[in-house]
Amino acid sequence: MLANIVGWVIRREGRKFLKLRQNIDDSVFTDAREIGEISLYIHIPFCRTLCPFCCFNRYLFQEDKARQYFKYLKRELDLYIQKGFTFSDFYFGGGTPTILMDELEGFIDYLKAHFNVKRISLETTPREVSRENIARLKAAGINRLSIGVQSFDDNIVKAMGRPFGPSEDMKRRVMMAQGEFDTVNVDFVFNFPGQTVDQFRADVQAFKELNIDQATFYPLMASPHKKSALERRFNRVDISQERRFYDVILNELYAGGYQAATVWCFSREERMIDEYIIDFDDYIGIGAGSVSIMGGNFYVNTFSLERYGELLSRDTLPIAGWRKLAEKENQRYYLLTKLFGMELDTGKFTQRFGAGMESQLNPELLFLKLLGLVRGKDKIRVTRKGMYPVSVMMREFFTSLNNLRELYIEEQI
Ligand SMILES: C[S@@+](CC[C@H](N)C(=O)[O-])C[C@H]1O[C@@H](n2cnc3c(N)ncnc32)[C@H](O)[C@@H]1O
Ligand code: SF4
Repeated sequence: MLANIVGWVIRREGRKFLKLRQNIDDSVFTDAREIGEISLYIHIPFCRTLCPFCCFNRYLFQEDKARQYFKYLKRELDLYIQKGFTFSDFYFGGGTPTILMDELEGFIDYLKAHFNVKRISLETTPREVSRENIARLKAAGINRLSIGVQSFDDNIVKAMGRPFGPSEDMKRRVMMAQGEFDTVNVDFVFNFPGQTVDQFRADVQAFKELNIDQATFYPLMASPHKKSALERRFNRVDISQERRFYDVILNELYAGGYQAATVWCFSREERMIDEYIIDFDDYIGIGAGSVSIMGGNFYVNTFSLERYGELLSRDTLPIAGWRKLAEKENQRYYLLTKLFGMELDTGKFTQRFGAGMESQLNPELLFLKLLGLVRGKDKIRVTRKGMYPVSVMMREFFTSLNNLRELYIEEQI
């Protein structure tokens, strides 16, 4: 019930992010000097096979297109460099960022030539984890490697349409990487149609037994179109079961001494996470389908590869839509992302918005406190009771973004 209410509220908030303006000129950009060092998300939208449940902007790998894409990425980055932006932390996501290792290495060299690179996080699939790739990623300076396992249950992996099994082979590859980077993370999906709570518990236990640094557990997020496609292909996407899956995470990990870096991400010790939306209040995303938050504005890049190339050939930023967030929206977005990361520092809120949280978001704060979802005064922390409602809020927020993605992908905006 409570989860339904908070979910509804966030769905309403999230919808506002869909109302975007299209025309953009330099005047809407925040002065880079006011922002300082921020994080850069780099999207590589190519995969060797396409998983039907995946909600990201991705295309079937074609070598010539992918090589050309890396060239455009550098051009897009150049445009931000020309505006004076500077970055310290880098997140490669996909798609499959390791799809062309030589291009990836060249791009990282380019980053090192322009910035003081502090940390690099990178996603890949189990299939791409080999001794050779591990050595090359280490040499390139990757600090955190995130491997999309999704499940160690062969039947679930098959139902997900992923040709990455058998699970013994996935485990062998994950263990090859474990210990080679500051942090190795594995991604799992829960509440997949047909997946049982026991199957998921076995995944969480396997993660513990393998002693991997970190795991991120994503509740299945389906946009309306994807939801019906999934239902046609598999079974019912049943949100009412989600809580039972989440309780497995809480019982097996949170109560078992693992640290929650976010409500979805658990580590053995303090580790690097890939949630740039938590660590940095502002971030820029480059690549087809990336989003950025900068100085109170929200920007979305074109999802179309053709349009991406076309705009960059004219040295134009490939932004397809943008929106100035109202102060309240901005503050609520801040609250949501910090709660997702388990803690909000009220002093930092005041610094960012020039006014205290109690005067700005009093009803929200009161609601969260009265229900026992958060506690604390200077540092507001999510309680164990609050973790599932916050997970629902984040799922709803990402689902709203997925609606936007789906619309932009379909219309090739
Ligand atoms: C964009 S993928 C990149 C990882 C890599 N390509 C792979 O599949 O192994 C990052 C993670 O997002 C999660 N993900 C993708 N689609 C999702 C969906 N519809 N709902 C929930 N999580 C999803 C998966 O856990 C995946 O590992
Ligand atoms: S889940 Fe990963 S491998 Fe599958 S389509 Fe999405 S990005 Fe590609």
